[in-house]
Amino acid sequence: MPSPIATLRALRADITTLDCDAIVNAANSSLLGGGGVDGAIHRAAGPELLEACRALHGCRTGEAKLTPGFRLPARYVIHTVGPVWHGGRQDEPALLAACYRNSLELARAHGIRTIAFPGISTGVYGFPPELAAPIAVRVAHEHGASLDAITFCCFSASDLALYETVLADTE
Ligand code: AR6
Repeated sequence: MPSPIATLRALRADITTLDCDAIVNAANSSLLGGGGVDGAIHRAAGPELLEACRALHGCRTGEAKLTPGFRLPARYVIHTVGPVWHGGRQDEPALLAACYRNSLELARAHGIRTIAFPGISTGVYGFPPELAAPIAVRVAHEHGASLDAITFCCFSASDLALYETVLADTE
């Protein structure tokens, strides 16, 4: 009998090239664009994405909102706002878990079967990747059952090695 659990995998790629139902954007609370993966997604999706984001009137840390993908191969973009790392004593792990959980719940509500996540908060926002990856994988196991595939899209070789280790540990 097929497993009801989504397939979890890690790969190294530019998330804007991935052909899945939805990619997740590590945005800021304005939802009006920025650098890093956010800038790359806005550049690849085209100016219609900024217009769609304006209509959402921002997003609080830990929450998630959905737009079309416009010129991206992905049909949707789920925008979530990760916590800024302040040393781990300001609820950062719980807020990061909320980003993954709310993104997966939004995906389920829209019939999304395949989704790709970047390493939310692990760039400019400073969340240590070795603490973030186990949170991402745990929440995917707990809340991803309605999806067929969940991809952890890594930008660096070291992030890919980290996710491969965490995924192997949780198999
Ligand atoms: N594809 C996949 N991953 C990427 C890509 C890409 N094209 N580009 C960067 N990454 P960051 P944050 C990785 O800084 O820490 C923005 O300005 C990157 O290597 O993009 O959540 C927003 O507007 C890292 O592993 O996001 C916010 O102001 C991960 O994506 C702020 O940055 C996240 O790095 C959010 O900071």
